[in-house]
Amino acid sequence: MSSSEQKNEARGPNADQIEYWNGDAGEKWARHQDRLDVMLAPFSNALLMLAAVKPGERIMDIGCGCGATTFDLASAAGDKGRALGVDISAPMIARAKERAAALHSKAEFLLADAATHDFGATQFDVLTSRFGIMFFDDPVSAFGHIRKALAPGGRTGFVCWRPFRENPWAALPMMAALPHLPPQEPPVPGAPGPFAFDDANRFRDVLTQAGFRAIDIQPFDAELTLGAGADPVETALHQSLEIGPLARALKTMPEEKRDTITDAVRKALAANLKDGAVRLPGAVWLVSAKA
Ligand SMILES: C[S@@+](CC[C@H](N)C(=O)[O-])C[C@H]1O[C@@H](n2cnc3c(N)ncnc32)[C@H](O)[C@@H]1O
Repeated sequence: MSSSEQKNEARGPNADQIEYWNGDAGEKWARHQDRLDVMLAPFSNALLMLAAVKPGERIMDIGCGCGATTFDLASAAGDKGRALGVDISAPMIARAKERAAALHSKAEFLLADAATHDFGATQFDVLTSRFGIMFFDDPVSAFGHIRKALAPGGRTGFVCWRPFRENPWAALPMMAALPHLPPQEPPVPGAPGPFAFDDANRFRDVLTQAGFRAIDIQPFDAELTLGAGADPVETALHQSLEIGPLARALKTMPEEKRDTITDAVRKALAANLKDGAVRLPGAVWLVSAKA
């Protein structure tokens, strides 16, 4: 996508998310890709099991970010298959392409809005996503559009977060910071963001309206390693302040308030240091459906 095409898309649907993931957030995800991949690894494995890709299949990995899942899917699809990672974030797609070259992976990457890009009809056997499908302004239209790229009988394997309160990796740092933050607007249920599909019934309705069938939504729990290695608490702290809901809330905070918040979050994370690592529970939905 050229920069003028991207600017045009930035005025259309998903404009806020396109701006968000091409700004600071996308840069941070690209910079911290190795640490995020460690943190999110349990959900890659769950996604691979769910997608159950066979050699020769064609996969579209939606909101692929820096490509971790796309590389695994490309390996599963083998020489005769295809794995295309699609993402709106230029810095993350650039990182994915660098990694593909370094890994000699045949995974392909495309900078595009999955909700509107013309993929052609029936081009894929499987649609996958690890946390890349919760950001559409109009999810029914987005999933309806993407579904047309699936071959008849094609399937999905999506992973998305369950409610915030069931996800201490996000909730614990936020709760520690909350007394020092200005009053936070309550999140609008279903608004684009990491927890847009926390309500399984809503996600089921969206997929049904988008034309999917045989929808199955199952809970899955795993621990996220926020910090390990030489200084696990500082690593976890850095992670919590840079990425996720607290990072979003901190964007508008004056510098002098940040020290107090940093101390509070550090304390909360340190209380969860065990066996040389800070690990906190995460809760997701594993979502499968058919075209
Ligand atoms: C939370 S990140 C997850 C990235 C990656 N799947 C991973 O697990 O590391 C969400 C990703 O979805 C992408 N995204 C959001 N809306 C999108 C859209 N409409 N089309 C394609 N990608 C989108 C973002 O740019 C971002 O890379």
